[in-house]
This record gives sequence, C-alpha cells and structure tokens, in this order.
Amino acid sequence: MGLTSEDKSAVLDSWAKMSGPTFQDAGEKVFLLLLKTDSTKALFPKFRDIPYDQLAGHPDVRDHGGKVMQVLDDFIKGLDNGGDGAVQKVGLLHKGVGVSHDNINLMKPVLMTLLGELGCSSAAGAWENLWARFMDVHRTCY
Ligand code: HEM
Repeated sequence: MGLTSEDKSAVLDSWAKMSGPTFQDAGEKVFLLLLKTDSTKALFPKFRDIPYDQLAGHPDVRDHGGKVMQVLDDFIKGLDNGGDGAVQKVGLLHKGVGVSHDNINLMKPVLMTLLGELGCSSAAGAWENLWARFMDVHRTCY
C-alpha cells in the first residue's frame, strides 16, 4: 500500500520529534525498548552478554542506535527519490548476519510505542503504511 501525501507529511512531522535531539539519543531510546525482550536481545551478538541495566548510555548501544536511525532517516527523507536503497542495503546486511526478515518486524511495536510516548498517535495510520513499505522493500533482499 502506498503512502498518501497526508501520510508523508504526518511521518515527516513525527519523525522530526522521534529522531531527535540526536540520532544517537533517539537510537538509544529505541534500543532500550527493543532489547527489553530477552529473545530479541539474544539476536544481537554485541548486546546479548550485556545485562539490560547496563545498556542505558552504553556507547555501543548509542552507536548502533544512531546507525539504525540514519537508515530510517534516509528511507523517510527519500520516500519519493531513492530511499528504498538504504533499506535494501540493510536488508542484505541482516540476511548476511542471519537475522530473519520476520525478526525485523519486532521493530514495529517499538516505533509505535515511541510514537505514542511522544504524543504523535495521530500519525499511527501513516506509520502503518510506512512500515508496510519498509517491510516490502526489506523482503526483496531475502
Ligand atoms: C528499523 C529497522 C532496522 C534498521 C533500519 C536496522 C539497521 C541496521 C544497521 C544500519 C546495521 C549495521 C550496523 C553497523 O554497521 O554496525 C544493522 C545490523 C544489525 N541488525 Fe538491524 N536494523 C533494524 C532492525 C533490526 C531488528 C528488529 C533486529 C533484530 C531483531 C536487527 C538485527 C541486527 C543485527 C543482529 C545486526 C548486526 C549487528 C552487529 O554488527 O553486531 N535489526 N541493522
């Protein structure tokens, strides 16, 4: 399903809040939510041996989170021109490290939670469509 122009502006407005103040700050928040589930944390060789309560502020979490936010930023800012390439690149990377396509969907509830926490729930429908497109592109790499 495509994104309407209303969807795109709702995504851009909410992304401006979600992705700040820096990608590393935002990425840390995302990963503290994502890694709460032990089975998800176990999928990350570099995080699985770090106790959950030591992840906040951990430079590796901030660094990784920042890179993930950058990919989402490239995808979102490039919805009309070439942003899919950023997702394809990361899709190939995920496939290479043995993460299944379905596992990537674990990110969806995390992004939706963050959206709600930031008071952007009115953009949830737009994010549904955005995420469906992200997963469609990601799937092409498997
Ligand atoms: C918005 C969705 C996601 C994006 C944009 C994304 C992006 C990335 C990027 C950019 C890297 C490379 C990091 C580097 O170069 O150091 C990476 C690696 C990885 N991703 Fe994702 N990711 C996403 C979701 C997920 C999810 C949900 C999982 C697992 C449940 C996952 C598992 C991994 C793993 C295991 C690696 C390898 C990490 C390592 O270097 O040790 N990713 N991802």
